[in-house]
Amino acid sequence: MEAFAAGEPVLVHDFTDREGEVDMVYPARSVEPADVATMRNDAGGLVCVALGSDVADAFELPFLADELDHPAAESDHLGYDERSSFSLSVNHRETYTGITDTDRALTITRLGEAASSPATTDFSASFRAPGHVHVLRAARDGLAERRGHTEMGIALATAADREPAAVVCEMLDDESGEALSRADARAYADRHDVPFVDGQDLLAALG
Ligand code: 5RP
Ligand code: ZN
Ligand code: CA
Ligand code: ZN
Repeated sequence: MEAFAAGEPVLVHDFTDREGEVDMVYPARSVEPADVATMRNDAGGLVCVALGSDVADAFELPFLADELDHPAAESDHLGYDERSSFSLSVNHRETYTGITDTDRALTITRLGEAASSPATTDFSASFRAPGHVHVLRAARDGLAERRGHTEMGIALATAADREPAAVVCEMLDDESGEALSRADARAYADRHDVPFVDGQDLLAALG
């Protein structure tokens, strides 16, 4: 929580009986282009911004699976959870292609700012969809309802007294092609002086 309050990342392992993945998580508003480079080089997964449920409602950001009119979206049954938290993908309107580190950092920080003042944000005037940053919607009842990195990121942001917007990016293993193991992620955390937390402990403290 201290790291998060200071705008620094935390590594979060969910649960061995869920994804069994470690995400690099940052408060969205603090993300700089170099942090996007760290996420794509050191983490390697999808760069997503989790938003609290009220904020997502204010911006009319749906669960994508509820909106897609295509047979591929018919069953949202996943092996590790009831449903995906994916909403729209967006770019800030001031970006060019949207994928560069500077473009993604702009989209991410502006999502963080938007989450801090939803009442005064005209979401569609500021963001376009589709884009290169995936928005995730946290469950309405947070960790009581769903135990994903989406909800854990929002719980961390809330506990650190920050706006409900957190970037999450899975840590992958370049050698095995699998998710980075918990042990390897812990070693990365030690090497880089980044806090590491297990879902179980996060749940005990904030759930
Ligand atoms: C998006 C994902 C990640 O797992 C991310 O951690 C958010 O999902 P969840 O809340 O299900 O853990 O799939 O790249
Ligand atoms: Zn996932
Ligand atoms: Ca890599
Ligand atoms: Zn996850």
